[in-house]
Amino acid sequence: MSRGGTVPERGRAVAGRLRGVVAMDGPSGTGKSTVSRRLARECAVPYLDTGAMYRAATLAVLRAGLGPDSAATDVVAVARDAEIESVIDPAAPRILLAGEDVEAEIRGPAVTGFVSAVSAHPQLRELLVGRQRAYIAAAVARDEGVVVEGRDIGTVVAPDAALKVYLTASDEIRAVRRGAQDRKAGRGADAATVLAAVRRRDHLDTTRTVSPLAAAPDAVVLDTDDLSVDAVLDELRRLVAERGLVR
Ligand code: DC
Repeated sequence: MSRGGTVPERGRAVAGRLRGVVAMDGPSGTGKSTVSRRLARECAVPYLDTGAMYRAATLAVLRAGLGPDSAATDVVAVARDAEIESVIDPAAPRILLAGEDVEAEIRGPAVTGFVSAVSAHPQLRELLVGRQRAYIAAAVARDEGVVVEGRDIGTVVAPDAALKVYLTASDEIRAVRRGAQDRKAGRGADAATVLAAVRRRDHLDTTRTVSPLAAAPDAVVLDTDDLSVDAVLDELRRLVAERGLVR
């Protein structure tokens, strides 16, 4: 039997507020953002998209005229000065760069093509991990739960998270999902190009020396190849109830 609330029926929203940190990790195209945001929203707690922070830092770097060949010290200096603010409201999460809403721009091809290289810089990670922990600490201080999404949340940012979930799916399925998202945003690319881009980013994210994308040993791994968004959400509801994280 569960320690906490009753395990919800399929399709039934969490009845109550979440407590504790839920760490959601995995590569792109696993449905991580959608389910993280929906879980946070129905549990009435903040949702922190750490990928958006790396993307905003990348945008700042590009706007400063730097590129893939720029010196690490220059890249880190720009990121350090960049005023990146995450709006953690799960009903309307967005990211601000010096007060400007850059949510759409950070999802575009220029940032997407460069973000893995920028986020591999150890000092830049240190900087952003510090800011991510500050958001988490603020939520915890308010006695609120928080859903945090990224690549290294369960391993590095919040290793004591109450629940760690690692979403995965095959490259091909993730590329199909990414392609559909891109088309919806008016950025069409052929399937082979999207698949190559997904694999390239995975390779960079999993092979970087500092906090590479990896499942924490105590993470619940969910393969979403054959799971709809609703089915993944059901599983998350079951997990938070089972762990007593709903009050
Ligand atoms: O989740 P996303 O696609 O928006 O993330 C963009 C990139 O940011 C991703 O390719 C790797 C990087 N990232 C990271 O290194 N660590 C995180 N916690 C989140 C994202």
